[in-house]
This record gives sequence, C-alpha cells and structure tokens, in this order.
Amino acid sequence: MDLAIIGSGYVGLVTGACFADVGHNVICVDNDPAKLEALQSGKVPIYEPGLEEVIHRNVSTHRLRFSGNIEEAVDKSQIIFIAVPTPQKPNGDADLSYIEKVAREIAGVLHSYRVIVDKSTVPVKTGEKVAESIKRYNKHNAEFDVVSNPEFLREGCAVRDLMQPDRIVIGAQSERAIALMKQVYEPFMAPILVTDINSAELIKHAANSFLALKISYINALSAICEASGADVEKVADGIGTDKRIGRSFLNAGIGYGGSCFPKDVAAFITISEQLGVPFTLLKEVQRINAEQKDRFLKVIRDTLWVLREKKIAIWGLTFKPDTDDIRSSVAIDLVADMLREGAQVCAYDPKGMEKARMIKAIADATFVNSALEAVEDAEALIIATEWEEFANVDLAVVKEKMRTAIVFDGRNLFDPKTMAQLGFRYHSIGRAAVSPA
Ligand code: UGA
Repeated sequence: MDLAIIGSGYVGLVTGACFADVGHNVICVDNDPAKLEALQSGKVPIYEPGLEEVIHRNVSTHRLRFSGNIEEAVDKSQIIFIAVPTPQKPNGDADLSYIEKVAREIAGVLHSYRVIVDKSTVPVKTGEKVAESIKRYNKHNAEFDVVSNPEFLREGCAVRDLMQPDRIVIGAQSERAIALMKQVYEPFMAPILVTDINSAELIKHAANSFLALKISYINALSAICEASGADVEKVADGIGTDKRIGRSFLNAGIGYGGSCFPKDVAAFITISEQLGVPFTLLKEVQRINAEQKDRFLKVIRDTLWVLREKKIAIWGLTFKPDTDDIRSSVAIDLVADMLREGAQVCAYDPKGMEKARMIKAIADATFVNSALEAVEDAEALIIATEWEEFANVDLAVVKEKMRTAIVFDGRNLFDPKTMAQLGFRYHSIGRAAVSPA
C-alpha cells in the first residue's frame, strides 16, 4: 500500500520504517529541515535498537523515503498517519495544536478519498475535532474518513514492539476505512480490535495510565517493604506469577519518566475532569511517583549527611535503558536536585550524554566517558537507569576506585548479598540496606 506518515519522531519514524519493512511504500514527512536533511543523507536522529538497519534496508529498496512536502505525500498515499507530538501544557492538558495544524494542511491538499489516521496519543473525542477541522478546510470537497489507531510501542524495544504487536486497535466508523486499515496491518499477523473512535482513543490513555498505576502500586509497596523488612522483588514475583496480575511493570524504582506516562496520566486526569468524571485514582498514581524520587533522595541525604562538595557518581541519565531519550527522566531530576545541594555530580550514560549536556538544570555536572571513570574517587554511586552495561561492570574495580564504597541503586540492578560481600554499603528500593560483610 502507499502510506504517508506525518511527523518523523520516535513513533513516526519507527512506524514508517516498519511499515516499509513489511512491504508498503512509505513517505515520512517532517517539517524540521535539519532532521530531514539528516534522514535523507542516511543519518538516524534518534537511538533505537535495530532502527537504523530497518531504515537503511528500506531506503535502499526505495520503499521508504523522507520528504518535507505534505501535498505530495497526501497525493501519493491511500492512508495518511498523523504522528506529531502532543506535549503537555502547563495545566496538564495535551497540546493538540500540532495535530490541528496538520489536519488543516492535509485538508487543503485533499483531492480524492483518503483515510486520515491519528496515531499520536490524544484525549478522547479528538478524532471528532480532527474530522470537523478537515471538513472545514476541505477546499476540494474530497471524501475522507478519520481513524484512531493508537501506538503501543515502547522506546528501547520499539522495532520489536511494532513488528510483533500484542494487538492492533482500529477506531473507525466507516467500513471502507476499516478494510483499508486491516490491509495495512495484515502482514503483522496480530489480533485486530475494531472499535469506535472514542473507545480507541480511550484505550491508549487507559493502557498507559494502567501501566503507570502498576508501577506506582509496586513503588508504594516498596515503601511498605522497607518499613517492614520485606523484599519488594519477592513480593513482585509472588503477586506477578498470578496470571491475572502479571509480573511485568512491577519493577520498583525511582519512578516512571519519559515522554509518555507523565504526560498521558496528566492529560487523562484533565480530560476526565472536563468530562465531569474526575479520575482521582490517577492523582494518587502521580503523587506516589513523585514521592518515590523524594524518598530515594532522603536515603541519600540520611546516609551521606551533607551533600555539599561531595563527589557523587551517577550511572544513567535516560528515562529507561536502550534509548537516548532524556525527556522527563527522573535521573536528570535527581542530578539537578543534587547539584542544587552543592554536590559535585559526575555523570555517565551509554547513549544519553549528548542530549543531557544540553539541559541547563544539570549544566554544572561533569560528564565522563565511562562508568568506571565516573566512580573515580567518588563518595557515592547512584544507579538511576538499569543499562545492561552497568550490570556487566566489574564491581571489584568500582570498589577499588571509589573513595567510600556506598551505592544507591534506584533500579535494583544488583543483588544486596553480593554487594555486601564485595564490601559495599548498598541501598536499593524496597529491600533492606546492607553493609560490608
Ligand atoms: C510507554 C508504554 O509502555 C508504551 O506501550 C506506549 O506506547 C508508550 O509509553 C507511548 O505512549 O508512546 P515508554 O514510555 O517508551 O512506553 O517506556 P516504558 O517501558 O513504558 O517505561 C516508562 C517508564 O516507566 C520508564 O521510566 C521506566 O523506567 C518506568 N518503569 C517501567 C518502571 O519504573 N518500572 C517498570 O516495571 C516498568
């Protein structure tokens, strides 16, 4: 099929590349000239495992190309996917101005029947607004259908999530649009759920909020574990093996971050309030998430007493492993908090350094080139992102290099017993702190 994707960010780019990889002809559109130039010259502006190969493979077979020209893309494609950002406004609302702008632009160049698909995460009832907007600016009175087709890929494993989805959700009214959408997804051999547009939009917010809730649930439990001497990892295994609960997204830590959960939970709260049915449970999810970082900081302060002038190493700046994305990363907030208290922070991340260096709030941190360089002479090490690379570092060397062997593990990357045997004072989340054996 001939497809256009408007917006070449994390979702748009991965979607476009994977659609091309299963045999569709895809034009990825973006209005950022620098990004376009990079993509056209074979550079991939984000780090996502496997993505570069998929892009190069499909560019070379001419199934995937990049363009700044919406008119050409709309003209040449049967289906146009909108994958532009919907950032959070200060009041928690989702900013839908990019969606509205793209809808207007598409409407202006629509000549014959097209399916316009919203892939960006939007509050329920946005599809209705998109349809209204296209109708209003539809210069040539062309036929069209609006579809909601939310995306469930996770950064760090986006290509795999897209190629092997648990399900595809298609929210549509017209049989014609549903038939075309099913054709797009046929090669993926995944269960397809067809709903109305409002339900599809709600599914996305409800899924992300439920996952955030699961994380806050285990994080709240981690505080109870710490207070009672229980082990949150054991508790998570114990409840997670119940198929009705499931073990995934029950990893306690310093809280969820990223460009999706914080924004989507906030937007879901706002839309529920606007609909007159406030989803107050989600406010508690947010509160627990914020508290988790504060509890972690308190343990650091209680242990080190004073942070001022202490050299503190931090491993991990991205909001999760296997990405270079630092948007709403709890790790970045932690660094900023420690710098404010006068600590000398020495940070290392396998992929997030370039983007982290641009963040004003952590400009006073020192950025180094390896995990071992970061711990040189450090009085404490903080693990903020659970990169595989950190799990493989020789901890005996770490101990040797540190001034005082204290580790605050915000992602439960290591086993407390082993850490004690290696001579560390080791604090983690929801598990008893241990001292050198
Ligand atoms: C999330 C959803 O998982 C995707 O299904 C969805 O498509 C995406 O948002 C989106 O809306 O675009 P993503 O934010 O990329 O994906 O990454 P996740 O793996 O969900 O992690 C989000 C945050 O939760 C990270 O900070 C991670 O460290 C944290 N997390 C995750 C935990 O603290 N504990 C866990 O058990 C799992």
